[in-house]
Amino acid sequence: MINVLPLVTQYTTLIPQNEHLPPISLTLKDHTRLNILTPTDIDELNNQHFVIKDNVFIDIIDSKTLITDCLPYFEKDAISGKMGQREEKWQNNNIRGDKIWWINDSTEIPKSLSSLVQMIKKLQIELNESTNLNSQFTQSHLTCYPGNNTGYIRHLDATTKSHSNRKLTCLFYLNQDWKPGDGGELMIYGDNKNIKVRPISNRLLIFQSGCVEHQVLSTLVPRYAFTLWMC
Ligand code: OGA
Ligand code: NI
Repeated sequence: MINVLPLVTQYTTLIPQNEHLPPISLTLKDHTRLNILTPTDIDELNNQHFVIKDNVFIDIIDSKTLITDCLPYFEKDAISGKMGQREEKWQNNNIRGDKIWWINDSTEIPKSLSSLVQMIKKLQIELNESTNLNSQFTQSHLTCYPGNNTGYIRHLDATTKSHSNRKLTCLFYLNQDWKPGDGGELMIYGDNKNIKVRPISNRLLIFQSGCVEHQVLSTLVPRYAFTLWMC
């Protein structure tokens, strides 16, 4: 029989108890190295464990062009999002319904995406030079939740058992025509309040991978984002 249970009633969370990582405390060593971020952003990463920057790379990245350029590559190489690591990987559309295209240094990518990757790698250098982050490598992918009520239930990107080397999650949203009612907001579960982040174009969201619980709410329309983890 076809499984018709909606996303959240079947599974509510993927987070086992006691698998959170402690928050990273960033020390600002040299504020002159900051460029995209400000000292206040570093404070927010320390205090609320996430920061949102809007209208980022606005002169460099046009989301529509980027998506159009990437679609042929994406359709050829994207896979369904999976949970777990290595041989333990598993997939379940009721947990996450995205298609992902993993990108590493040897992946052939269009120029528009390459500009974005470069900008976010600059962000890694900036954080390494201005703080004690000490990120040695990155992992990245482009994702598409195709609509049709797809999402990703409440989870952590790094736990003591899985992807424990991920320090910061950087998300760059690519949805120029997003409007209220489309869904696909990122729900961030904070200590005191929960925040819904709209996945709008040129919005950069950075959060601590091991302690910020988050969920992609069901989206009715295709929803694109680029994710880079600083490890
Ligand atoms: C993830 C994730 C959030 C988003 O891929 O782990 O939580 O807003 N993505 O796309
Ligand atoms: Ni996540």
